[in-house]
Amino acid sequence: MGEKHLMNSYSRFDVEFENGSGTSIYDINGREYLDFVAGVAVNSLGHCHPAIIQALDKQSKKLIHVSNLYWTPTQTQLAKKLVSLSDHATVFFCNSGTEANETAIKIGRKYGKLKGKAEKYEIIAMENSFHGRTMGALTVTGQTKYHKDFMPMIGGVNRIRFNDVGDLQKSISEKTCAVIVEPIQGEGGIINANKEFLMEAKKLCEKYDALLIFDEVQCGIGRSGDLFAYQSFGVIPDIVCLAKGLGGGFPIGAVLANERASILKPGDHGCTFGGNPLGCAVSLAVLEELVENKVIEGVKGKEKLFKKGIEELLQEYSFIKKIDGKGLMIGIHLDIEAKKVVNKAFDKGLLIIGAGSRAIRIVPPLNISTEEINRGLEILAEVFKEVKKELQFA
Ligand SMILES: Cc1ncc(COP(=O)(O)O)c(C=O)c1O
Repeated sequence: MGEKHLMNSYSRFDVEFENGSGTSIYDINGREYLDFVAGVAVNSLGHCHPAIIQALDKQSKKLIHVSNLYWTPTQTQLAKKLVSLSDHATVFFCNSGTEANETAIKIGRKYGKLKGKAEKYEIIAMENSFHGRTMGALTVTGQTKYHKDFMPMIGGVNRIRFNDVGDLQKSISEKTCAVIVEPIQGEGGIINANKEFLMEAKKLCEKYDALLIFDEVQCGIGRSGDLFAYQSFGVIPDIVCLAKGLGGGFPIGAVLANERASILKPGDHGCTFGGNPLGCAVSLAVLEELVENKVIEGVKGKEKLFKKGIEELLQEYSFIKKIDGKGLMIGIHLDIEAKKVVNKAFDKGLLIIGAGSRAIRIVPPLNISTEEINRGLEILAEVFKEVKKELQFA
C-alpha cells in the first residue's frame, strides 16, 4: 500500500478498494463490502452511477476546464438550477466543503466591513462543530483536538454551546458579522440542531444585522430528506455551504447567498477550478437524479426503516444510548467506543464510521435499496451481539 510515499495524515483501514457499484464496493481481492459510509456522505447515488458516468463521458469530450475569466453554459446552468431550487440569489463555486466555508467566512467579514463598522468582524461558531481544516475553517471548528498543533487560530471567532439559546443571546452583538452552524453536526457526533435554536439565530442575526451561515456540507443535498437541510428545519439562512453530495463523488463545492449576502466583487475571492465544466456537468446529473427522478422522495421512508431497526437494537442493548440525525444521516450514540463496533462491522463486510468517539454514523447512498438496508441492519445486529458478549466477559 502507500505508507512509504503518502504523508501519514490519515488513519486508514487495512484495505485497498478497486471498484464499486451502487452500495457495494470491492477490494483488490474481490471481497464485497456494503458501503454505509459512501465516501463520508459523498456518493449520494452510490458508486459509479450510470448518470454520473454518462455526464463525465459527454462533458469530457467537450470541455474539461476553462478559467473563470470566461463564462461556460454548464456553470451557468448549474448556478441557475441551484438558485431555482433554493431560496437564494447567487452561487459561488469551489472544490470542497472547507473552501465553501472559507468563502462564507470571507463574505461575513466583508459584510461587516460594508456596514461601515471597523469592529464588526466577530464570527460566532459552535462548540463541537466541524467546518474544515484550513486556518479559517479550522478556527470556526469547535473542537480543540484539531487546533492544538496549529495554534494560533485566526482572531475574531467566539465559540458558543450548540443549541444553547442563552449562550447565543449573550454572545451576539453589533460586533457580530456572521453566525455559522451545522443544522446537523456531523463529525462532532451526528447531533440535530434544535429548530428553536436555529430560529433564534435567524432572529438575532436580523436584529444585529449579521449573516446566518448554514454549513450543509455534510447534511445538505438530500441527506436530511429534503434537498437542503434548512428546508428540514424550516429556517432559511443567508448563506448555505455545500460540497460532498453535490458532485456525487466528483469534487465540487458551492456557496449559495441571498440578495443581502451577494456582495463579492471581482478580486475579492476566486478559485481556479471552481465551477469547472466537468464538475458542473456531473452535479447537474446528480441533481436531476435526486430531484427530477425523485431519489430524495424516498429518503424519509428509508430513514424510518433504519430507525425502526436501530430502535429494536436500542431496546436490546443497554450500551446503545440514543438515535439522532435526520434522513440518511443517522447517528447511533453509544456509551462505549464507536471504534469497537466500526471495526467489527468492517470484518463482517459492512462499512460504517464513527462520529466523535462514541457515536456511529450511517450515511449510505440516498438510493440505497430496502434489501441493502435490511442486510446492513442484520450485520449490525450481529456486531452488537458480539460486543455485548465481550463486554460481559471483560
Ligand atoms: C460539516 C462539514 N463542513 C466542512 C467539511 C469539510 O469538507 P471538505 O473535506 O470537503 O473540505 C466537512 C467534512 O467532513 C463537514 O462535515
